Amino acid sequence: MNQQMFQLNNKSAIITGGGSGIGRAMSILFAKQGAEVHIIELNAEAATDTVNEITAAGGKAVAHTCDVSKQQQVVDVFDAISKIDILVNNAGIAHIGRADNTSEADFDRIYNVNIKGVYNCLFAAIPLMKARGGGVILNTASVAAHVGITDRFAYSTSKGAIHAMTLSVARDYLHDGIRCNSISPARVHTPFVDGFIAKNYAGKEEEIFEKLSKSQPIGRMGQPEEVAALALYLCSDEAGFITGSDYPVDGGFITLNN
Ligand SMILES: NC(=O)c1ccc[n+]([C@@H]2O[C@H](COP(=O)([O-])OP(=O)(O)OC[C@H]3O[C@@H](n4cnc5c(N)ncnc54)[C@H](O)[C@@H]3O)[C@@H](O)[C@H]2O)c1
Repeated sequence: MNQQMFQLNNKSAIITGGGSGIGRAMSILFAKQGAEVHIIELNAEAATDTVNEITAAGGKAVAHTCDVSKQQQVVDVFDAISKIDILVNNAGIAHIGRADNTSEADFDRIYNVNIKGVYNCLFAAIPLMKARGGGVILNTASVAAHVGITDRFAYSTSKGAIHAMTLSVARDYLHDGIRCNSISPARVHTPFVDGFIAKNYAGKEEEIFEKLSKSQPIGRMGQPEEVAALALYLCSDEAGFITGSDYPVDGGFITLNN
């Protein structure tokens, strides 16, 4: 018999940052598996593009323009959605710098999106999940939460916080039927990567792209679809025994870089 695994039929999934990169690939895959996908995005046009791609393929998706760093916006949007079976905290921004050359404004910007934005979504989603008997939360950390990466002070700080938030939430809501895990990608080829190469290494784009590809022992960057496949598993009923864990998806970055 051909068993269909990892189905999300009748589930409602919120994916933050679903307009681009990893979040876009997750949104498309989750919808393909039967979920009604709610994309929470700062960039309305990007969210609409993803929604149009999903609906053209026969899936269900809705775009919500919302800044995850603004708690009232998040609460209003989540309350309106109301049925939340899955929350994927994916929206995040990058920064290059060390402790002594990261400005207060840049540190606050990274904090507001990458840490407070995730807290805001947890704050808004957990009461709704508890009221309906449970749910699944997946947070997006990074290999930067686990190993020291050059010139990523504020970003690494924010991703370390994701790891700790994941453990805290997994513990606090164990008996409310809520599972909470995180994933830690190494370099994945998305507009996020292209954007920071263009911004920080103008004129040396190809050289830096090659260097960033080789920094994964497997010899290349990941694809957004490869991260989405792990996210699908962790958010599916088949992963019902998994909570409080972090999963690297990193081409050997954490364990084989020696
Ligand atoms: N690409 C990588 O190499 C990589 C590696 C490790 C971890 N990550 C993490 O994966 C996640 C997704 O990365 P990506 O590469 O797909 O990024 P991306 O820049 O391609 O997409 C991120 C999306 O989030 C949205 N967003 C940003 N700030 C927001 C806000 N305040 N409110 C709502 N939406 C907002 C953006 O509009 C964008 O569409 C991030 O958390 C990132 O830190 C990425």
